[in-house]
Amino acid sequence: MFAAEAQPTPLTESPITQDITAEWQEIAAMVAPFLEEVRQQLAAQVAAFDPGIAPYAEYALASQGKQLRATLTGLAANSVGGWNDGTVKVAVIIEMVHLATLLHDDIMDGAALRRNRPTLARKWDSTTAVLVGDCLFANSLRLAAEFPTTDVCRAVSTATRTVCSGEILQNKQQGKLALSQAEYFKMLRMKTGELFALACELGGSLAGGDARETRALRDYGMALGTAYQVYDDCLDIFGSEAEAGKSLGTDIAGGKATLPVILLCEQAGPDIQPRLNQMIQRWDETQLNILRGWLSEFNTLERSQSRLESSLADARKALGAISESSPRDALEELTRFLAQQSAELGVG
Ligand code: IPE
Ligand code: MG
Ligand code: MG
Repeated sequence: MFAAEAQPTPLTESPITQDITAEWQEIAAMVAPFLEEVRQQLAAQVAAFDPGIAPYAEYALASQGKQLRATLTGLAANSVGGWNDGTVKVAVIIEMVHLATLLHDDIMDGAALRRNRPTLARKWDSTTAVLVGDCLFANSLRLAAEFPTTDVCRAVSTATRTVCSGEILQNKQQGKLALSQAEYFKMLRMKTGELFALACELGGSLAGGDARETRALRDYGMALGTAYQVYDDCLDIFGSEAEAGKSLGTDIAGGKATLPVILLCEQAGPDIQPRLNQMIQRWDETQLNILRGWLSEFNTLERSQSRLESSLADARKALGAISESSPRDALEELTRFLAQQSAELGVG
């Protein structure tokens, strides 16, 4: 490979954890030994890549953040029985799939920052980022093949296909800002909901949950993941880059319709679309401020937040099928954590 002339140096810094708030720590503390096991196994997996590749994979791993999906797997497992080696492995697999999708997503978004550091594509180049993403995808399936039956491998590959299909749909709809809410939510369920649902479902089933509990955990994950992506989409417009630690404004700059913009198109009449399209043509910081003005005129943040909250209510409702326990309470707490994060958008 000619592109990657600069040799990667092994990382000494630890993952950046500035968005890990006290509220989140309280939730994660419920599965601390589980998460520690996941971290160690993930590190061991990437360290075992070819020595010329491992530092790139380690760099990608350091963008990991708060291990939301792994936390879901641990809590889901504990809510129906208790975590075990299988649930740890599945969390490792899902985090790897997630990291791979982020590497590719940052290329598609032309993003410069992830977790307050240059994206892998910016630090090296897109070719390396595509191929490291491919390695991570392949490695996750290799791990999934270690289970005694093909069920986990099938579930992971199906979900991964769905996530990538969601990204393809989104890409195909690029430039179509007046997307219907049905189209938008379908995409969200595919690109984000699916992996959250899988994390909860497999956590539950591998811990011995019955069909009803596993289904409920899947529904919970799907609803939570949908809410999470609405939050992420609002963050892209209303958040601050310094706090988010990643490039913002990339959705609208790339012609991606997100809920606030969809609501604006629904409300503001036909004139708004050509104006939005013009805005995208000459996209910069000033345009973002103008857009924010239009969005606030139509209360699109508040309306997106209430749609997000109704998804969180669906998530809490799904938990009704799980017997009360402290891990179930933590799953519920997680919905409140996200509601709180969402409520902080646009404040100050
Ligand atoms: C795509 O969503 C992430 C995937 C599901 C692959 P976003 O494009 O909104 O993610 P960020 O904002 O770059 O983190
Ligand atoms: Mg993105
Ligand atoms: Mg985003």
